[in-house]
Formats: sequence, C-alpha cells, structure tokens
Amino acid sequence: MSKRGITGEMLLPEVIQRFPATRAVFDRYGLRGCGGPEGPRETIAWFARLHGVPLERLLEELNAVAEDAAPTGEIVFRPTRADTIYRPFFLAGLATLFTLGCAWGAVNLWLMGTRQNFAGVDYSWILAHGHAMVFGVVSFFIMGFAYQAFPRFKHTNLWRPTLAFATLPLMAAGIALQAGAHLLAPRGPFLALGLLAGTLQLLAVALFAWVLRQTFRQAARPEPYDCFVQAALFWFLLAAVANPLVFWLFETAPTRSAFLFRVATFNIPYRDVQLLGIAVVMILGVSLRFLPHAYALREPTPAWRQFTFWGTNGAIAMAILAFLAGMLSGNSRWLIGQEMAALVLLLVALGTPRQYRLFGPIPESERDRGVKFIRAAYVWFIVAMAMLALVPVYNLLIYQPLTGATVPFSHAFFGAYRHALTVGFITMMIVGVSSKVVPTLSGVDVRSAPALWPTFWLLNIGNALRITTEIATDFTAAAFAVMGLSGFIEVAGLTLWGYELMRNMRVGKRLEREAWGRATSEPLILGPQTRVAEVLERYPQALDIFLRHGFAPLQNPVLRRTMARVVTLEQACRREGVELDRLLADLRALIESERKARASSSEAREAFSV
Ligand code: HEM
Repeated sequence: MSKRGITGEMLLPEVIQRFPATRAVFDRYGLRGCGGPEGPRETIAWFARLHGVPLERLLEELNAVAEDAAPTGEIVFRPTRADTIYRPFFLAGLATLFTLGCAWGAVNLWLMGTRQNFAGVDYSWILAHGHAMVFGVVSFFIMGFAYQAFPRFKHTNLWRPTLAFATLPLMAAGIALQAGAHLLAPRGPFLALGLLAGTLQLLAVALFAWVLRQTFRQAARPEPYDCFVQAALFWFLLAAVANPLVFWLFETAPTRSAFLFRVATFNIPYRDVQLLGIAVVMILGVSLRFLPHAYALREPTPAWRQFTFWGTNGAIAMAILAFLAGMLSGNSRWLIGQEMAALVLLLVALGTPRQYRLFGPIPESERDRGVKFIRAAYVWFIVAMAMLALVPVYNLLIYQPLTGATVPFSHAFFGAYRHALTVGFITMMIVGVSSKVVPTLSGVDVRSAPALWPTFWLLNIGNALRITTEIATDFTAAAFAVMGLSGFIEVAGLTLWGYELMRNMRVGKRLEREAWGRATSEPLILGPQTRVAEVLERYPQALDIFLRHGFAPLQNPVLRRTMARVVTLEQACRREGVELDRLLADLRALIESERKARASSSEAREAFSV
C-alpha cells in the first residue's frame, strides 16, 4: 500500500500541485498542455477513462513517482504549439460562423421571407453559405478536435504539428477566395479564383488526412472508432476533389435550363458526401470514443458498431449512386435505392442513442452542460433521418396533390430536412462537445461554468421554428415572415455560445502566461524530465554545454525549435549515449553562476541608485 496514497477520486490539480513529478506520468498518457499548468479540474478516474488507461495501472505509476520524487518544486509548464492546436482552428470556425456561415444564412433566410420566394436570393449566395458552413465551420471544428484529441486518445504526439498548422491558412484562404468567386460570378476572373480556391482547399484536406494517418500509424494503438475516422477522411477528400468541379458546373451553366439540370442532378449527391459522409460519419466515430469515456455511458456492442459503420457508409454510397443514376438515366426506379439508404440511416439514428443509453440516468458526478446538447443532437438526428425517409411520401402524397405543383419536389421540405441535420444534429453536437472540451482544456471547472440554457433554447426553438415554418410555406405565404426571423434566433443562441467559448480560451491562455511567467522569474529547477528546449530558451549559452557533451544535432537551429521541444534531458542522454548526471551537473553549475551574476548586478544597481 502506497504511503503517498493517490486515489482515483483525487483531482488532477490537487495531485500535480503536491507531487509535480507526476505530471510526467499524466503527460505520457496524453495530458500535455490540456487544462493549463495544473491539468483539468477532473478526477484521476475520469482522466484514466477518457485517455483509455486502466485506473489501477495509472494509480500505481503515479504513486511510484510521487514516492521517489521530491515532494515540492515549481511546475515548469510550457505547452508546445501542438498542445493547444485546437484554439486557432476553433477561432477560425467561429469567425466563419459569424460572417459567411450562419450570419449570412440568416440574412438569406430573412430576404427569402420578406420576398416570399426561395428564388428571391441569388443562388451563388446560398452556395457560398453552404460551402462556408461545411468546409469552414464544420471542417475547422473537426480539424481542431482531431489534431488535439486523437493523439492524446492514442498516447502519442501529433505528427508534424507545423504541417498540421499549415492546413489552417490554406483552408481559410480557400474559403474566402471561393466566397469571393461565388459573388463575382459570372464576371471577372471568377473561374480562375474558384479553381484556385478549390486547389488550396484540396491541399489542406490532403495534408489533414496525411497528418492524421501518420499520427495513427506512429501510435500503433488501433481502436474501434479508427475506421469511422478513415471513412470520414475518404469522404472529405472526395468532397474536396468534387468541390472545384461542382463550382465550375454550377457557375458556368450556359442557359437557365442547363443550370437547373446541373443543380438538380449534382447538388443533392454532393451535399450528401459533405453532410452525411464527412460530418455524420465523423460524429458517429467521435461519439464511439467520446461518449462512453467522457460520460460513463454504455459502450455499443461490436455488432452494432459493425452495422453502423457498414450501414452508414454503404447507405451514403448507395444514396449518391442511385440518385445520380436516376437523374442521368431518367428512370425513377433508381430512386428506390435512395429510399432504402434513407431507411438504413433512420435505423442508425434510432439505434445509436439506445446503444449508449443516452437518455437513461447519468450519475450526477458525470453530468455537465454538454449532455443536454448531445441528447438534443441525437433527437434531431432521428428527426432529420425520418424527414429524409419521408421525402417521397411528402412530395408525392402531400405536396403535389395539395399544391398542384408540376414537379414533385418541394424545395421547402428539403431545405427543412437539411437544417434539421445541419443545425439540429451537426451544430448541436459541435456545441455540446466543445462546451465540455474547451473549459476542460483551458483549466476551467466545467461544472462551475454557465449552463448555456439560453443557447440551448434559442438554438432549439429557432431551428424548430425554421423547419416547421419553412415546410408551411408550401401551403401559406404567411409562414414566410416567421421563417425569415427564425435564423436570427439561432444566430443569437450561437453568439452566446461563441462568446463563452472564447472567454474560456482566453482564461486558458492567461493561466499559461502566468505559469510561464512564474517559472521564468525563478531559476530553472532541472530534472531528467526537463525538456531540452526549456533549458536552451532560458539559458541560450547552455548550447555550448550540450555540444561539449556530444549533442551534435543541436547545432541545427530547426532541430532546436522542433525536436528539442518534445525531448526531455533523460531521453536525449539515452539517445546520444551521454551520462545524464554529468550533463545535469554542468547545467546546474551554469544556472548557479547565472543566478550569482544576476544577484550581484542587481546589488550593484541598488548601490548605484542609492
Ligand atoms: C442560423 C443557421 C442557418 C441559417 C439561417 C441558414 C440558412 C440557409 C438558407 C436560407 C439556405 C437556402 C435555402 C434552403 O436550403 O433552405 C441554406 C442552405 C444551406 N445551408 Fe444553411 N443555414 C443555417 C445553418 C447551416 C448550417 C449549420 C449548415 C451546415 C453545417 C448549413 C448548410 C447549408 C447547406 C449545405 C445549404 C444548401 C446550399 C445549396 O443549396 O447547395 N446551414 N441555409
């Protein structure tokens, strides 16, 4: 029995404060920069579950380290850029949401409402909104989450963080250029701009897929959700390849009828790849890893996992191929394939929350503000998939007979289905997961953070109003007015959430700055776990000592900026065959002489000022 007695119920900050050396154990299992200098205000048992480490093993290792190490000492906390990589991606997602994304969507909806006409807004504007939402908002949140969480779930480092960072400006420039090209079309260099934008985004997506693939490979820790991530990456690449082609098809149609044919044939399958392929498949995969671990929910059975994976991806592929075949051949029997696909997706939507027992009781200790959003998201998933399955019933048995329309396709019903999925499921899930993850990563106690009820109600009421009134516009023009306002209700809810998210991120940044300021105002306390870069940043003259001891690679400034940030003194000595104790002794002598020099120069300054 350990004398130190670290137990599963203790909070991470409590343990790290008392036994700073335990940070190395937490870091090994993926803590690193998460939660600020002292880690998130969560219990050790929760950390073990989220990071997939057996609790007994973690406690054993923590207690062993706590017994060996000196009980006190400053925590030298210096997260690398990879440790907080989610931040710039989430900020880019929020910036897109409140400009080209939902904000622009709400303006479009309002214009359609006041003009009582879905064609009352230039279609290029709608394309720009849809694209910014999918490639901008959804992708930025997926990329930020994936770069941040997957390496930690797999106890490894993010492969080539600089390359990962490069995907952000590439994607952002691509989205901004593409929005410009949509607005410009059919004038000026719109086509060249659109194609350049598509190429930049394709490059960003390819790099994203490559970084994730290499990260998973180096982790060599296969988990059941991996195949969902790989499938979502496949759909993402397919969408990125199709994007410039779709841009060209829609924006260069020579006549109105060619334009209508192209949109009618290619828009639905293209959006299926994006919304179902990228977003839904990724959310189902992340749910598999996140929900049971973060909320102690039931793990889905292996048979259900298999069905969800093959059923969802197979249904998406079938829906796309059947729709294209039906439209291009003119044979409506192909559309039966589309209907079967929708029914499979409905089964997935109905069964998934049951598998997790998502609506059953969740112990008080595990509940937080994210749960209600995640539950609501899965309700909206069922609503959206039921609407998708009902599209032919609505079009043929309700819309056409009651309105006398010549074409059996209700734009209103399809737009309503789309936003049940995009706002109800996809956005609600982003809000739910981020409102748990961001405070945790920023060192804010998620249980004392605001519950976000106003966001919850505004988003749900706004979306319910939008969907019902959009469908009602098929029968009464009076519904247009309410529909036109509903977008602003959703945007108001999202603004409150976005503001809170940014506040949490700012707190995280402040805690890091304070910790680093504390650490640098005192002499560095050296130990085997101190990173090489930490020594070099504080004492650049230590480079001579490293070189004298045979660390030739440190002559290279690139390696000093990259490798040295992640390698500890102990690891470096092992790798280069250097005696750790001799290196530590020389470095400590340097630090001591620096301390004395600083002390005597401040004494001299004081004497001079007297
Ligand atoms: C405040 C929330 C939103 C508002 C007010 C809004 C508004 C609109 C409007 C007016 C349209 C065109 C008409 C229609 O299809 O009904 C549209 C289309 C679309 N929206 Fe949204 N939207 C919102 C959120 C989202 C989100 C969260 C996503 C994706 C995650 C999204 C993706 C799309 C897509 C893909 C289209 C179809 C574009 C096309 O026809 O190709 N929207 N939206």
